[in-house]
Amino acid sequence: MTVDIGEILTRELGAAAIVRRGSERLEDYGRDESPLGPFPPDCAALCESREQVATVLRLCAEHGVPVTPRGAGSGMTGGALPIHGGVVLSTERMQRILEIDEADLVCVTEPGVITGQLQEAVEGHGLFYPPDPASLGFCSIGGNVAENAGGPRAFKYGVTREYVIGLEVALMGGESLRVGRRTAKGVTGYDLVAGFVGSEGTFGVTTEIVLKLLPNPPAVSMVLAVFPDVAAAGAAIRTLLGRGLVPRTMELADRTSIDHVRRKSRYVFPAEAGAFLLIEIDGEPEGLEPLLGRIGLVCEAERAIDLLAAEDPADRRALWEARRLISPSLKEAHRYKISEDVCVPRGAIGEMLTRTQRIAEQQALTIAVFGHAGDGNLHVNIVCDEDHHDPAVAARLDAAVLRLFEDTVALRGTLSGEHGIGLVKRDYMQLEQSAAVLEWQRRWKRMWDPRELLNPGKVLPARPKACHE
Ligand code: MLT
Ligand code: ZN
Repeated sequence: MTVDIGEILTRELGAAAIVRRGSERLEDYGRDESPLGPFPPDCAALCESREQVATVLRLCAEHGVPVTPRGAGSGMTGGALPIHGGVVLSTERMQRILEIDEADLVCVTEPGVITGQLQEAVEGHGLFYPPDPASLGFCSIGGNVAENAGGPRAFKYGVTREYVIGLEVALMGGESLRVGRRTAKGVTGYDLVAGFVGSEGTFGVTTEIVLKLLPNPPAVSMVLAVFPDVAAAGAAIRTLLGRGLVPRTMELADRTSIDHVRRKSRYVFPAEAGAFLLIEIDGEPEGLEPLLGRIGLVCEAERAIDLLAAEDPADRRALWEARRLISPSLKEAHRYKISEDVCVPRGAIGEMLTRTQRIAEQQALTIAVFGHAGDGNLHVNIVCDEDHHDPAVAARLDAAVLRLFEDTVALRGTLSGEHGIGLVKRDYMQLEQSAAVLEWQRRWKRMWDPRELLNPGKVLPARPKACHE
């Protein structure tokens, strides 16, 4: 007899916590920001507490039902898609910030808090949580932990993993574990926190997060440098890095990206704008002007056609708004969009930009490149207005993605800088990682989830395939 897991969970958690079959809302839980889906689950459990999360994981284990954890559904790699049906376990209702401790420089939060709101809350205490994924207005901190999210400020401050020092995690079967610490340092035992962060909801479900905070930098300033082409912007990045300058962001956008936000931007981009760099700096107020001056000189020497300094928070917000709108605007303007986030060593950024252009020409596709260029983390967005189900079009899209990943690995880069592997990149893993490394990761996954019920089918290719060894 097939189990009606929706019925079972409704009995345990109450009807208000369960979205069941027949509800139009259920389809929303079968999508994320990837181009895949929908994969409607049997039901969605909107948990409000660690106890409810544990109950769902216990009952799903008892009945052999797959569970897919979900934060805000902003992921771009299909990580939150319930591809085998079963239950979507959403933490969207776990929205309490439990503690902001100024003495310990620590914040304790539930996973459903929206990242931007968490940042504002800690800033109210003079503190700073640096990771700033572009989706910070709607992504949740639990999803950021699952994906080890990055963002522009990773250039100076690093990614989510550097700030998660403790976790409470519910495991498949319902057991709850507290791992990590609250102290500034700590090397007691193996680093389980580091393993859970970035495990894409395949090891456990986070129910509480302890974050390390920094003092809020006293002053922030920014310069927008506009270039005639990406080659000039790439040369400016190389020179700035070579001089050891450490802004907190070094964001790049190419002509296609600019054209998609031109009409929405408060800053009027010159018609000949072929690329921009958005460079933000922070620190003591007296240090900022000389640093901006040095950055400006480098950009001018590398053929910048316009430079705009923005100190006022409202002006900076407007420029960030234009940058953050690139991805949604590309999605809105085209029938189909593939968002890659390859990352190459910094010395290979220029070569990667050239190779990306070559791929666009070879496959006759439009490719926008933007992102965290200072880290070598490029958002290569392949957009298409043809029918992507047409086999000939699909073949060109597949060839473009494969070549992008092959070029990335050839330049000693990695498939994903911050979006994770999820479903969309799973079958490319063997391009980068050896069969042995993949097998050890499979064993690691089985240790937490021996029956492979928790977010099954994600991150690791199903069976060993031929690898590059
Ligand atoms: C961004 O930085 O805008 C997002 O991570 C990316 C994307 O949509 O590719
Ligand atoms: Zn990004």
